[in-house]
Amino acid sequence: MIYLDNAATTPLRREALEAMLPLLTETYGNPSSAHAAGRRARAALDEAHETVARCLGGQPREVVFTSGGTEAINLAIKGAAWAGKASGNQIITTAVEHHAALHTIKHLESFGFEPVILPVDRYGRLDPDQLGAAITDRTILVSLMVANNEVGTIQPIAELVSAVRRHRGILVHLDAVQAAPYVALDVKALDVDLVSLGAHKFEGPKGMGALWMRHGTTILPQQQGGSQERYRRAGTENVAGAVGLARAFELCTTERGETARRLRRQRDRIREAVTAVAGVEITGHPRERLPGHLSLIARDTEGESVSLALDLEGICTSTGSACTTGSTEPSHVLSAMGYPEEEARGALRISLGRQTTDEEVERARAIIPDTIARMRAAAAVVTADPLGQGVGS
Ligand SMILES: Cc1ncc(COP(=O)(O)O)c(C=O)c1O
Repeated sequence: MIYLDNAATTPLRREALEAMLPLLTETYGNPSSAHAAGRRARAALDEAHETVARCLGGQPREVVFTSGGTEAINLAIKGAAWAGKASGNQIITTAVEHHAALHTIKHLESFGFEPVILPVDRYGRLDPDQLGAAITDRTILVSLMVANNEVGTIQPIAELVSAVRRHRGILVHLDAVQAAPYVALDVKALDVDLVSLGAHKFEGPKGMGALWMRHGTTILPQQQGGSQERYRRAGTENVAGAVGLARAFELCTTERGETARRLRRQRDRIREAVTAVAGVEITGHPRERLPGHLSLIARDTEGESVSLALDLEGICTSTGSACTTGSTEPSHVLSAMGYPEEEARGALRISLGRQTTDEEVERARAIIPDTIARMRAAAAVVTADPLGQGVGS
C-alpha cells in the first residue's frame, strides 16, 4: 500500500509512541493526585506543556491540551465569542475554513452572534484589504486557517493579521491544524491570540490537540468540571496523549525545513506526471502551498471513481476532506474558489508525508496519470452511450 492521504491523517511516529508507552503502563497516576504516582504524571504533563510552548515561542501556561483539533477550534471560537459578547457580536472568517471552524461559527449565529464569511480568490486566498474592510466596531474575533486541508493553499497570514491589528480589541485565532507540520508558527512574530493544533496531522496520536492562547486572553471554558488546564478545559488529562503530541511536535519542528524540501521535490515529481494528462488542472495556489500537498481537478472524471480505482491499485488518496467523504455535496472549498459543481466532482487530493519514499513516488508517478486517463476515457464512453447500446447504434 502506498499511503498518499497524509492531509487526512498521518501514522503515529515511533518516537512519539515510545514516549507515550511509560505513561500508559508505569506512570499511570492522575496528575491531580498529590502522591508520588500523581506527581510523576504531573511532571510529564508539565514537560509536555513546556515542549509545545517552546516550539511555538510561547509560555507553558499558555498551552491547553484538548481532544483534537476540532475541540481546540471550538474552545477558541466559542470561548472567545462568549467572553467577548459584551464588546460585540461579529465573527469574521473565510468561506474555505474547515467545518470545525465554519460550522462552529454558523452555530453561534443562533445565539445572537453575526458570522461574516469572506470570499476567497481562485487559489483560496483571502485578500487582506477585503478583511480590513469587513471589520466593524462590532467585530470581536477573526478566525483564519493557516493552510487549507483540501487544496493546500497557505494564507498570507502576516498581511491578514496586520489588517486586523489596525483595530483594537479584536482577537485573532489561527487554525494551524493542517499547517503545523510544515509552516513555522512563532506566536510572537505572528502576533495572534489563539492557535489550534491537532496531533494526528504531525504523526502524533489521534484524539489529541492543543490550543495555544496568549497569556491574558480571556475565553469562556466550554466544559465544566475540575480545575484542569488552569480551569480552561475540565477533565482528567490524557497525559500519554499530551506527551505523544509534544514529542511529535518537537520532532516535526526541528525537522521541518528538511522534510519540506524533500516533500516539495517528491510532490513536484508527481505533479509533473499528472499534469501531463489532458484535462488535469492543479487547484490551490501554485507556490504558496503545503510542500507535500497536490490537489487537482481531472475534468470529465468523478474524483470518487479515480480515488477508488487508485485504491484498487494500492494507492490511498482522497477527493478532499476526510470529514466529508461520502457526502454528495460539492466541496465548499472548491465552490468558494469558483469551481462549478461539475468540475469540482473531478477533485483528487494526493498528500505526501514524512514517511513517503522516493520509490513510492516513482510508483505513484507510473500509476496515477494512467489511472486518471483510463477513468476519463471510461467516463467519456458512458457519456457518449449512457445505455451501453454501442456508440452510433
Ligand atoms: C484545517 C483543519 N482544521 C481542523 C481539522 C480538525 O482536526 P481534528 O481532526 O484533529 O479534529 C482538520 C482535520 O482535517 C483540518 O485539516
